[in-house]
Amino acid sequence: MQEQLKKLEEEFNQDCCSISSEEDIQELKVKYLGRKSLLSSLFSQIPNLSNEEKGLWGMNLNKFKLRIASIIEEKARKLKAKDSDFDLTFPSAKVDTGSVHVLSSVNQAICSIFEGLGFVTLEGKEIEDEWHNFTALNFPDDHPSRDSFDTFYLDIQQDKDKGKSLLRCHTSPSQIRIMQQYKPPMAVISPGRVYRPDEVDATHSFMFHQIEGFAVSQNISFADLKGVLLRFAQEFFSPDVNLRFRPHFFPFTEPSAEVDLSCIICGQKKEKEKKCSICKDKGWLEILGCGMIHPNVLSACGIDPKKYKGFAFGMGVERIAMLKYRINDIRLFYENDVRFLNQF
Ligand code: PHE
Repeated sequence: MQEQLKKLEEEFNQDCCSISSEEDIQELKVKYLGRKSLLSSLFSQIPNLSNEEKGLWGMNLNKFKLRIASIIEEKARKLKAKDSDFDLTFPSAKVDTGSVHVLSSVNQAICSIFEGLGFVTLEGKEIEDEWHNFTALNFPDDHPSRDSFDTFYLDIQQDKDKGKSLLRCHTSPSQIRIMQQYKPPMAVISPGRVYRPDEVDATHSFMFHQIEGFAVSQNISFADLKGVLLRFAQEFFSPDVNLRFRPHFFPFTEPSAEVDLSCIICGQKKEKEKKCSICKDKGWLEILGCGMIHPNVLSACGIDPKKYKGFAFGMGVERIAMLKYRINDIRLFYENDVRFLNQF
């Protein structure tokens, strides 16, 4: 018995050295632990032994059996781990990663330019009321913008004193909320979505994004407004752009202006025979509205217009992004076609 077990052990050790596959493991199991294995024939010899030897060999064989079972287990585990080893030099499968949406990155870039000039970014509310969206901004009661053709009214009632609820049609009501909440001096930038019941086409959408900016202090002038906007345009578009301020009208600013950017495509240099399809050879592109905050607006927010003055401006993020990246259809921003989005 002793001899046989020794031989069996030697053979097992030898067989163990040549294991290289799952099949080898299976074979090893059958050969050493199976019903027809040498070990089981040794077990079957036990009944023929003397009583004393029975106990001893029963124990020896069981110990041996457990030992080889655990060695086989260990070999199998190692083999599996080896199979799933990474080859770090192997080229990986292509991973599709998302990217920041072009509107988000333009929005972010604009806000951070103004932040660099000392403005603080604060958001207003998308669900507004008539008072914040119109009345406090000095819109007369019969102003056509209040018409339901120009504003999305909502069936929910918030504060009765503030009129009907609506989806804000510009970011200017953020001026009101922020001026009511904070004391001047202040310089704030307020981005967000706005809604207008417009027919959707290449340049219109019922939802788009605006960035409102305003500053209030005892000592502020239209010159500050011009300086801030020129600095923004030169940083965002290119150092050689220029701005043109055209007189305009907004109920909430006086005086008011529309601002044109010198054409970033043709650089205002008309080449003979060549037409600029972007500025239509005018050399200027309208980019925003602005002005000095109307005294009635300051009063509505509890700020004394005799003591304080302010400027404000508002721009459409889609329009700015379309000019910067020469995108010719606003709908591309919302369709989420990765072939479009991947380009930014
Ligand atoms: N709210 C105006 C618009 O939507 C833009 C604007 C903002 C104009 C601030 C002047 C001052 O067209």
